Amino acid sequence: MDLFSAILSLLSLYLLFLIISHFILPPPPPHGPKTHPVIGSLIPFYENRHRLLDWYTSLLATSPTQTFVIGRLGARRTVVTANPKNIEHILKTNFPNYPKGKPFTDILGDLLGRGIFNSDGDLWLAQRKLASHEFTARSLRDLLVSALDSEADGRLVPVLTSACSERRAVDLQDLFRRFAFDVICNISLGTDPGFLDVSLPELPFVNAFDAASMVSARRGAEPVSAVWRVKRALGVGSERQLEEAVGSIHEYVNDIIKRRKEEINVKAAGEKEVGRNDLLSRLIAGGNSDEAIRDMVISFVMAGRDTSSAALTWFFWSVSCYPDVEAELLTEIMQVTRSKERRVDYESLREMKYLEACLCETMRLFPPVVWDSKHADNDDVLPDGTRVRKGDRVTYFPYGMGRMESIWGRTGWSSGPGGGCPSKKEKGRSCCGCRRTSIQCSKRGLGFAWGRTWHLCK
Ligand code: HEM
Ligand SMILES: *[C@@H]1O[C@H](CO)[C@@H](O)[C@H](O)[C@H]1NC(C)=O
Repeated sequence: MDLFSAILSLLSLYLLFLIISHFILPPPPPHGPKTHPVIGSLIPFYENRHRLLDWYTSLLATSPTQTFVIGRLGARRTVVTANPKNIEHILKTNFPNYPKGKPFTDILGDLLGRGIFNSDGDLWLAQRKLASHEFTARSLRDLLVSALDSEADGRLVPVLTSACSERRAVDLQDLFRRFAFDVICNISLGTDPGFLDVSLPELPFVNAFDAASMVSARRGAEPVSAVWRVKRALGVGSERQLEEAVGSIHEYVNDIIKRRKEEINVKAAGEKEVGRNDLLSRLIAGGNSDEAIRDMVISFVMAGRDTSSAALTWFFWSVSCYPDVEAELLTEIMQVTRSKERRVDYESLREMKYLEACLCETMRLFPPVVWDSKHADNDDVLPDGTRVRKGDRVTYFPYGMGRMESIWGRTGWSSGPGGGCPSKKEKGRSCCGCRRTSIQCSKRGLGFAWGRTWHLCK
């Protein structure tokens, strides 16, 4: 049989299947994506691949329970939900049934090892306890606050000020990326990459992080995982790039661990006080293995850098779209800081309720983590009645959730009374840095950028 007739017979078989299944199979639920036998939703998925966020959001909006199921050839069945009851079920009530799962941890395993961000079960729990403990420690919080102060004061504001006086446009997204990276390295590693200081040479470590994140993300987008697995086995293309990047990240972090240990030993011989409060030093002091420390701090850098910079960037973008919001923000900042010689400090930030509401509203519409997936350990039924099968991917979708009129009573921006922060339920597994670190981070970053530069510019 030649190729042509092979294809032809395949096609006619498929047509026959379509016709039969039309009469035999129950119609798919009206709110899910369009499905065809065998290939599932491959066609609409492919058509919408450049706008998955908005496509998913519209599918969720037409579903009576803000949940739909999508299956397509080559991917596992995925339940996507923006239903608060379902999400509480996944992250809290039936949390043990929803680990990140091997499909996810395999993808990030080379970069994140067995760090908190990429582990399940006991391995995760131990690190989670440690992380929660470290995060509530006053010393780490104080370090964060002073690291933010000095990065904003010493680097961010001068860059903005000079751009202002020269009437030069700046790429805020790039600036915030650098800002967040410096701060997260300070508190996680106790190092200063000086990424925001353009007069300093760039560290290969920074580029390695970008490259490794990019290749890891590309693995996730591969239609079948066999593709990257084969490339990795052969050590070619992007997989080779990943291997090199991870190698240089490990080398950098291992070197810091080694030197920090020496420093601590020297200090210990002399004085009692170790003096450093960054996560890495605290993990060393806690007697953890080098590999555990390495993976833990890499997870923190990964978790903290792009999230906080995305929040900052979207905040400025949003505010620039609404001149009245901008005006009200400026008024608040002026009012709060007037009595304090224009200094934006911890106390004055706590008074800036409108700033906080705007920040929450930004993260409702542009959440830094748009979706997050788990994999079901066993069959289950979600509170809205959606059936979950063992092995299914279950994705909760903050981006869509922030845009459900059924939840918020609106879809657009509103930072007035009632806008902004939803009340947060304590979750089984959620970000342990976001509330504390990023709101702080964003507020301080914002407070400084606004409080200082805006005064100068306007
Ligand atoms: C606006 C900023 C941030 C957002 C929106 C955010 C969001 C998230 C989300 C959605 C998760 C996944 C939770 C899950 O597995 O279901 C997470 C985990 C995590 N985040 Fe964040 N994050 C932010 C900033 C940060 C920062 C600044 C740090 C660290 C300094 C951090 C540290 C972590 C850690 C360690 C985890 C893993 C927690 C675990 O698996 O138990 N995050 N974050
Ligand atoms: C981290 O920030 C603190 C507070 O500004 C600063 O004293 C310390 O030198 C920074 N650490 C590094 C390694 O830059």
